[in-house]
Amino acid sequence: MSKPMTTKAQAAPGERSRGQLFGRRKGHRLRPRQLRLVEEMLPGLRVCLDGLRAHGPAALFDRPVREVWLEIGFGGGEHLAWQAAHNRDIGMIGAEPFVNGVAKLLAAIEDEGLGNIRIHDDDARPLLEALPDNSLDRVFVLFPDPWPKARHRKRRFVSHETVGELHRILRPGGTLRFASDIADYVRWTLAHIRAHGGFEWTAEHPRDWRERPRDWPGTRYEAKARGAGRRCAYLSFRRA
Ligand SMILES: C[S@@+](CC[C@H](N)C(=O)[O-])C[C@H]1O[C@@H](n2cnc3c(N)ncnc32)[C@H](O)[C@@H]1O
Repeated sequence: MSKPMTTKAQAAPGERSRGQLFGRRKGHRLRPRQLRLVEEMLPGLRVCLDGLRAHGPAALFDRPVREVWLEIGFGGGEHLAWQAAHNRDIGMIGAEPFVNGVAKLLAAIEDEGLGNIRIHDDDARPLLEALPDNSLDRVFVLFPDPWPKARHRKRRFVSHETVGELHRILRPGGTLRFASDIADYVRWTLAHIRAHGGFEWTAEHPRDWRERPRDWPGTRYEAKARGAGRRCAYLSFRRA
């Protein structure tokens, strides 16, 4: 990704984001189709946090869903769209503040007729706060911004607070999937998960975290990391 800027998170009226969002909200100018999708399709798919608090995530979808899964920082949405297409009975929520990524996902939704996706086009943290306890079955945090410098680590998405929130909103037995190409972020995440104590790392063999499972498609960022010769780690945790 290009060098991120620090921006204040925007928030819908009455839904002010807490803290700062470190990252880009906009890249290049949207193409006409992308602009149409953002203006016309996104409002109908956007998660209303008050509604979420009151009715829970399953109520976001037009049809009954078997489970609800959340992807945080979906980038261009390749993984989210793949999961939605291969699991039509699952309700998928995606959180991503970068509008160009959101526009890419909207194009996939239109092209593939994916009716089981809802979008929070903002910082994921207020979304986590609005989700009721035990309301999700899976959460994906794939290649979060790495913030490799020691003085920037506090900007990482994985923190004591977010691990606590993820534990609260996942149902017992639910799954948290995490990936990174930065060894220090992998250690950081394992340390935070261990310190929390409410998750079990499911790996039994090195290949369980060195190889991506078959039901876990690659992402754009991952392809870049591999292309640059970096190894990736794929961690799965079970919520106790
Ligand atoms: C390195 S990119 C990876 C994107 C995608 N997961 C992939 O693997 O290609 C990290 C993404 O997380 C998003 N992000 C950063 N902070 C976030 C936050 N607080 N809430 C939601 N998304 C966030 C960024 O906008 C960016 O798209």
